[in-house]
Amino acid sequence: MNAAIRAVVRTAIFKNIKVSAVYQGYEGLIEDSIEEFDARSVANIIQRGGTILRTARCQEFYTPEGRKKAYETLERRGIDGLVVIGGDGSFKGAATLYEEYKIPVIGIPATIDNDIYGTDVSIGFNTAINIALEAIDRLRDTAASHDRLFLAEVMGRNAGHIALYVGVAVGAEAILVPEVESDLDKVVQNIILAKDKGKNSSIIVVAEGAFKGGAFAVEKELKERSGYEVRTSILGHIQRGGSPVTRDRVLGSRLGFAAVKGLLAGRSGVMVGADKRDVVFVPLKEVFEKERNFDWELYEASKILTV
Ligand code: F6P
Repeated sequence: MNAAIRAVVRTAIFKNIKVSAVYQGYEGLIEDSIEEFDARSVANIIQRGGTILRTARCQEFYTPEGRKKAYETLERRGIDGLVVIGGDGSFKGAATLYEEYKIPVIGIPATIDNDIYGTDVSIGFNTAINIALEAIDRLRDTAASHDRLFLAEVMGRNAGHIALYVGVAVGAEAILVPEVESDLDKVVQNIILAKDKGKNSSIIVVAEGAFKGGAFAVEKELKERSGYEVRTSILGHIQRGGSPVTRDRVLGSRLGFAAVKGLLAGRSGVMVGADKRDVVFVPLKEVFEKERNFDWELYEASKILTV
């Protein structure tokens, strides 16, 4: 997200536009936690994870009174365009503000879950999958040396994109995602079959929302039935931190630049998304009304590739 913030600030300044940074999301708009930025305010941040602006969930913004306060802050400060970096929740807020007060808004997609419609990829996804990949490769060493079954839980409460990508990349013997009802009987059957064929260890990647109770609940089920000693690792928020990979830095830069250009060209109520090497502007309403497709083709491949 810092790459996107940097790009928004520097593109705007290049175009002779003043930039104000809002801290803590919509809470900052309501509380007037805002600071004018110059080009140096975003120096040395592109390599940092998270967001220098910090973030917060804001209940007050869900109320008309809260949004009125937010609008009054914008008006008082002479802010006449808003770039919102986030996911569905942030975009719903932006769309409502646009609807109620006609303040021009543009969204930039940022969530490691990569479940936003209208963009090839969201900021954070590539970093998250690389962190999970490295961690699971390390687990594989113990799994292989000790003849064990490892369950690695990755993030994804409602979406299995992280689990699918990482699962394919680490050669997981099974990938459990919220999009597919988990059939543990089948998983056990496949693991035993693989053992019979000479495999001495296995990795199962579990999206946190794939099974009620998460990976530990899966462990409970598999312990007795798989014939393996089972271990579970929850990767959790480790996937959300650390230095962003090149693709995320470039994506943030590309989208931040395009968001400012879009606002200047009179676009509003839209999200700027990545479309291969291009950008697209998608109406915010469409973004949260439509669902991003799960990659069924890759899911199918994943089942065949780990025989
Ligand atoms: O933003 C989505 C997500 O990464 C989910 O995959 C995960 O369940 C959630 O965030 C964790 O959120 P929190 O930090 O609030 O527990």
